[in-house]
Amino acid sequence: MAVRGLHAFDGKKTLQVAFTGPDGRRVLAPAAAGQNLLQVALEAGVKVEHACGGVGGCASCHVHVTQGGSALSKVTDAELDRLDEAPLVREDSRLACQAVILDPASSSTVAIEVEVPRWNINAVSEEA
Ligand code: FES
Repeated sequence: MAVRGLHAFDGKKTLQVAFTGPDGRRVLAPAAAGQNLLQVALEAGVKVEHACGGVGGCASCHVHVTQGGSALSKVTDAELDRLDEAPLVREDSRLACQAVILDPASSSTVAIEVEVPRWNINAVSEEA
């Protein structure tokens, strides 16, 4: 299923998101303010499940943001409601499609660390 709003990295305001899978494989992905974590992951070839197409309707894109969470949009009540349906929710749980990278304003050295849980990775074979 296609992801709504998916767009190519435009090279502005470079940020970096590190995705670590359950096998320990780590992928560093360039990102820009305004992208959500699902978009960044798929553009970098990190296959995160996205059953609803990235509209916040399914919780299949559940990930853990272990660092840099303050660089993302705040969790909404609707996102929390969806996370209630996900397995192994923690304080750092986010729906990748709902976690939007904020404009870093004065700094371009924001690092965001994301763990992609075992139940999520490789569930979608679609290329970004
Ligand atoms: S892809 Fe369905 S909630 Fe994120």
